[in-house]
Amino acid sequence: MADEHDLVVIGGGPGGYAAALYGAAAGLSVALVERAEVGGTCLHRGCIPAKQLLETATVYRTVARAGDFGVVADPPSVDLPAAQARKREVVGQLHRGLGGLLKKRGVEVVAGTGTLGPDRTVTVASEDGSRRQLVGRHVVLATGSLPRTLDGFEVDGTTVLTSDEVLELQCLPASAAVIGGGAIGCEFASLLGDLGTDVTVLEALPQLLAGVDGDVAEVVARSFQRRGITVHTGVAVHGHDPADAKTTVRFGRGESVTVEAVIMAVGRRPLAETLGLEGTAVQLDDRGFVAVDEYLRTGEEGVYALGDLVATPQLAHVGFAEAIVAVRHMLGEAVAPVEYDKVPWCIYSHPEVAFAGLTESAAREAGHDVVVTRHRFNANSRALVVGEPEGLVKVVAEREAGGRVGRLLGVHLVGPWVTEQLAEGYLAINWEATPEDIGPLVHPHPTLSETFGETVLALTGRGLHA
Ligand code: NAI
Repeated sequence: MADEHDLVVIGGGPGGYAAALYGAAAGLSVALVERAEVGGTCLHRGCIPAKQLLETATVYRTVARAGDFGVVADPPSVDLPAAQARKREVVGQLHRGLGGLLKKRGVEVVAGTGTLGPDRTVTVASEDGSRRQLVGRHVVLATGSLPRTLDGFEVDGTTVLTSDEVLELQCLPASAAVIGGGAIGCEFASLLGDLGTDVTVLEALPQLLAGVDGDVAEVVARSFQRRGITVHTGVAVHGHDPADAKTTVRFGRGESVTVEAVIMAVGRRPLAETLGLEGTAVQLDDRGFVAVDEYLRTGEEGVYALGDLVATPQLAHVGFAEAIVAVRHMLGEAVAPVEYDKVPWCIYSHPEVAFAGLTESAAREAGHDVVVTRHRFNANSRALVVGEPEGLVKVVAEREAGGRVGRLLGVHLVGPWVTEQLAEGYLAINWEATPEDIGPLVHPHPTLSETFGETVLALTGRGLHA
């Protein structure tokens, strides 16, 4: 006998648990099928553990220069097992909180691997070999993604690692090659470099952080260089030759680097192979993502897919937003699709990166007549006070016919706490604000946020401090 629910969700990561929580808040009876632990990659093997370890690097940097601020402290050293213990504590607390929230909302969490068959029937296979059938009036597929690797690089957790293994390290490698200079590659390069590993980043494309505005990526690249992190861009990686607990990575035109650890950061692939899908009209695209429309509908009536399983930005907050769109759509409510070109991006390397909207080059390619202003944090009093003058704010706006500066198209930040400063820029982009709208707004002094205010004010043709 199958158990019937208004909504059955397969996968308990940010996309899946958000669909379950939002659906339950809207009065739906919800079952959430999860084969491991609710919280998914973000909570257990991604965003949260990575940010916690990056915070260890921040504390280390801060203590190392305590003397600059008139505080006498011994030179710091890293206790990675203690950092890992703190990470587990924070993850554990969030995990318990999420479990409590699901319970409070009445979501039935079903342990096991869910496969989808015809008529929105989900078969759950538990570890003990038992099987159970659930039928959903609606089904959400949200099984997420796995790290990609390259041919010839077999992940062994010692010499070749993915983000999964890096986040569990109990001791630091003396040297590491990070393959891929995207968000994960830059966060790990920054983390390990700060903690004392000799890091080399190998990126196939001409710039670090492809997709990030060039001026912003340049600040990160220069900071890495200054801190002794070697970056090679525009290089193909050919393979590696392990020997004596080390390995030599071959790249570019006959170049190589010998390291203790190779960290694969070449993207994540969708995890669709555990979903069954036989006898359904759910389609995969040529890269293995589940094909969906703007409301996250698959080809099968009543079945939605979202999060890293679909070809949209692989960000937890995009999963949250998609969950709301999917649930509201299944409820028959009027809902606007996620505007993927305007979602916020935050990268927690040192320096941090945050942006929303179009980069300068993307705006030009899209045919906009573009006006750009930039302000550096080295002119911001708070940035000098906290000793973090590196970085800038860049605003890309549209020049309208007649020369007037119109709506903001992109806001790009790099520097101190910019991941916490982006919200204002994000709102400006999504409300299609103009410099005239934002210019009169008062930014408190002294704060880092003044730099955004100044950058926008300059677009009115009359800046204050520059
Ligand atoms: P990514 O797609 O952002 O970057 C992978 C990089 O590897 C690309 O720049 C690519 O050119 C490079 N690459 C691919 N093959 C290569 C090769 N053979 N040799 C050298 N370079 C090669 O993927 P990443 O960084 O692994 O992250 C996965 C996903 O997770 C992304 O969508 C990312 O946005 C997301 N993420 C977001 C974070 C954040 O927002 N803070 C943090 C971590 C991940």
